[in-house]
Amino acid sequence: MSSCRGGAGARRVQYKSLALLVCVWIWLLPAGAQPAPARSGIATAHPLATRAGEEILAAGGNAFDAAVAISATLAVVEPYASGLGGGGFWLLHEADGGRQVIVDGREVAPAAATRDMYLDAQGKPRAGLSVSGPLAAGIPGQPAALAHLAKRYGRLPLAASLAPAIRHAEQGIVISRGIGMGLKFRAEAARNSPAFSAIYMPGGEPVQAGATLRFPDLARTLRRLAAEGHDGFYRGSVARRLVAGVQAAGGIWTREDLAAYKVVEREPIRVQYRDATLVMAPPPSSGGVVMGDALNILRGWDLGRLQPVERQHLTIEALRRAYRDRAMYLGDPAFVSMPIERLLSPWYADGQRTSIRLDRATPSDELPGIAPAASGGTNTTHFSVLDAEGNRVAGTLSINTWFGAVFIPPGTGVILNNEMDDFSIKAGTPNSFELLGADANAIAPGKRMLSSMSPTFIESPRGVAILGTPGGSRIISMVLLSTLAWVDGADARQMASLKRYHHQYYPDVVSYEEGAFTAEEKAGLEARGHRLELSPRSFGNMQVVTWDRETGRVDAASDPRGGGEVTVY
Ligand code: GLY
Repeated sequence: MSSCRGGAGARRVQYKSLALLVCVWIWLLPAGAQPAPARSGIATAHPLATRAGEEILAAGGNAFDAAVAISATLAVVEPYASGLGGGGFWLLHEADGGRQVIVDGREVAPAAATRDMYLDAQGKPRAGLSVSGPLAAGIPGQPAALAHLAKRYGRLPLAASLAPAIRHAEQGIVISRGIGMGLKFRAEAARNSPAFSAIYMPGGEPVQAGATLRFPDLARTLRRLAAEGHDGFYRGSVARRLVAGVQAAGGIWTREDLAAYKVVEREPIRVQYRDATLVMAPPPSSGGVVMGDALNILRGWDLGRLQPVERQHLTIEALRRAYRDRAMYLGDPAFVSMPIERLLSPWYADGQRTSIRLDRATPSDELPGIAPAASGGTNTTHFSVLDAEGNRVAGTLSINTWFGAVFIPPGTGVILNNEMDDFSIKAGTPNSFELLGADANAIAPGKRMLSSMSPTFIESPRGVAILGTPGGSRIISMVLLSTLAWVDGADARQMASLKRYHHQYYPDVVSYEEGAFTAEEKAGLEARGHRLELSPRSFGNMQVVTWDRETGRVDAASDPRGGGEVTVY
């Protein structure tokens, strides 16, 4: 590993001898092996989830056990964002041998789902059906993924890793301002689910911030999962209650749908950008392909030598093209054949680059392709874990929009996802996140809906970053901006807090956070023809853990936009 870099700056000088030792040590290690960081780092969106991870590491668990504990605790403490009724992607790195894998716990369409199930007789989308109520819910993947993580990768029994979540569900959590706001937003749909309203809207009104809520049904469901593993959720009394509740409210799940659910292990997508290797989620997440596509385009310029406005313009143009490819080509690999090799090839990027002008934005409708298509949920969560041995997990989990389908099958405590909205319910019709889709992401029984969730590792001579964020269709551009920042030397805190902008091909606008552009940059982008729109809300809730191989330093940062917490010890 002759690529260990000599340093500039005070800290580098301070650590010079140590850095030299580390370089020699790395060089002597067998291929694939890496030194252990000796410290652990955790970043999650909620202090109780971070503490659950810490508790499990302290009990002798590894990063994978901690990931189970964190995922399950997030299901309790962030009930609007992820949960047993949802799914996600867990990107793993095993320190011993260096194997990397994506555990795909994405939801699947039930067997009775049909391509046009959300359209009326005139072929128009029926408002709300793919967003609220049991018809909006795919068959959940998170419980299966947690059982799989514990059995295949963990060191502790599943029951031990689920214990913190069960404790919080039984003892209760204090309702935060965020939960209160989300409830107000979904209150109308919630009235159609008596089991949801009984918990979150006693007396017919959303519970207020500061109240303590207990979740005895959810605790019982978690206990079943703890005692029986996968089958504790997908068969037996929990499955019976889930299906009965869904069918009684007009949904189409069957016991067979639940019994058939399986996680899939997938090879991650790897893309080289300058001196960094990105390890990312493959379809049915669009994250890896879209990021790889965009970074390959950007590789054609030395961005560091350009003016900020030129760099921003090129990043927007790369995103425009990569999100167009998302809409056109991507879906569940079990159902569609995708030109991934072509989309990630250098010659494809060369071709894309020739259509980009430095002085002018390309209107999206000038690119060959489809009209408007769809995106992913803003209510999602992410955590990053590194254990002292060097095992890593980047997990992004979701029930899609705020409180998912706002529906709880009675007696389960499980809030169902509304991920069916991540399918293209009609080609060219934008979803909740204004993402477009085509046939590749059409609904079919047993199919996984396309996701934007992008758990990512960045590996470079400088070290490793473990990152991800919620944010629906914006997840990918957020992770891309932080990746560019890491390559330029940013630390965990800078990656999590940098101001963000986004373009997703359709709508043809650059959405940006206050402070993302200076007045001069805004003028420069507008002069090129970009339509800028200040976002009324901030973007994302990024969680980053980094390990600097030169100094051995482990850092963690939680997005200042959220209420998360980190630990390094
Ligand atoms: N529902 C969020 C996503 O998968 O993109």
